[in-house]
Amino acid sequence: MEKIIISGGKTLSGKIRISGSKNSALPILAATLLSKNKIILKNIPNLSDSQSMLKLLESLNSTILQTKEFIKIKSGQPESCVASYNLVRKMRASFLVLGPLLARYSYAKVSLPGGCAIGARPINIHLECLKKMGVNFEIKDGYVIGKVEGLLKGAEIKMPFSSVGATENILMAATLANGQTVIKNAAIEPEISDLANFLNAIGAEIYGIGSRTLKIIGKKKLIGGKFSVMPDRIEAGTYILAVLGCKGKIKLTNLNIDLIKHLINIFSSISELHFKISKDKTMLEVLCMKRVKKNLKIKTDIFPGFPTDLQAQLMAAMSISDCKTKIEETIFENRFMHVQELIRMGADISLKGSNAIIVGKKKLNGAEVMATDLRASSSLIIAGLMADGLTTINRIYHLDRGYENLVEKLSSCCAEIKRI
Ligand code: EPZ
Repeated sequence: MEKIIISGGKTLSGKIRISGSKNSALPILAATLLSKNKIILKNIPNLSDSQSMLKLLESLNSTILQTKEFIKIKSGQPESCVASYNLVRKMRASFLVLGPLLARYSYAKVSLPGGCAIGARPINIHLECLKKMGVNFEIKDGYVIGKVEGLLKGAEIKMPFSSVGATENILMAATLANGQTVIKNAAIEPEISDLANFLNAIGAEIYGIGSRTLKIIGKKKLIGGKFSVMPDRIEAGTYILAVLGCKGKIKLTNLNIDLIKHLINIFSSISELHFKISKDKTMLEVLCMKRVKKNLKIKTDIFPGFPTDLQAQLMAAMSISDCKTKIEETIFENRFMHVQELIRMGADISLKGSNAIIVGKKKLNGAEVMATDLRASSSLIIAGLMADGLTTINRIYHLDRGYENLVEKLSSCCAEIKRI
């Protein structure tokens, strides 16, 4: 089993190129099932999650050519529109093939994704909304089987909660439905806009992109096209929090002005973080030289609030500070798996329901720790970079799901980190 070993206590200094967004690439890859024409995708991050999605598409008769510069995909008629358990259990985002398969082939059999370390993660909203488009569902032997007579029907859909994945499944399904679909209370995470822009680039007709009301005019078919996936705001936020925890200065490149504004906004309550934007608005420099003094109160929320995907990393970064931090996790019911490991490194964290109280310490101590989920693993990386002495992180396959070349990127910023 591979591990990561860190010799902590170094300030960070250097430059990191931010990779394409995992949470944009995965729905966009699923959406290639909607068209029978050739599609060229750029800036797809080389992660185990993207490879899992590509394997799933191949099992559904997509022809895939991967090069360093781009991925070429051409989806063919699947023998069976089945997303099997052994593929879906590895990555719940596989569930995003449900909408495209129903839209294209009027049938889909997708394994229930099951829960994961951070929560039960039900799919009720996905099913409720697709039912309104004429889908009949049956749950059998751990699979969701969806059938629709002829084409999906355009519908007016008000989402009970702005679920990211459910918005994506409905949006993709609506592009080939008969008639118009209006999605109200849609999620507005930037990755949704990226998916909608991709769909329009291959012939879909979507209006209201970036707003909570999306209008989609169904088409008979979609065409081919080219698209470059947006940069990963969670990867960028993770490195900003590494600077907050370790101190120093890092330049983040390959960003865009919308993401830069979003990142500066979510960290606006931490006055010890200083930002500088490059003239061409693609690079963000983050500088931090002092420990945070003013008590911090952060609540995770749907976009544009503080992303739940940065909660664990913030907790690690604030473990060394001259203040108290209160973090409320409002999106997932069990996203504090990293707390016990951080406590083993000397962090002073107490949990009360969905709240975590972190009392800042002067230092952390390196230890042998274990990753439990993707973002928990990146919070342990940050804690290891901050701690005195050696930290060994086990089960780093969690990390490889969402961070491309993390060890190389941090090593180029003066961190003493290696993979064994
Ligand atoms: C996406 O997950 C992301 N994953 C998650 O990132 C992210 O944390 C999450 O959105 C919230 O921003 C991808 O994009 C691949 P949701 P998703 O549906 O779509 C409940 C990471 O670390 N819910 O918005 O699953 C659900 O249980 C991952 O990169 C229902 O109750 O998120 C959760 O409590 C982790 N019923 C909340 O909504 C449903 O039918 C948010 O879930 C669907 C969701």
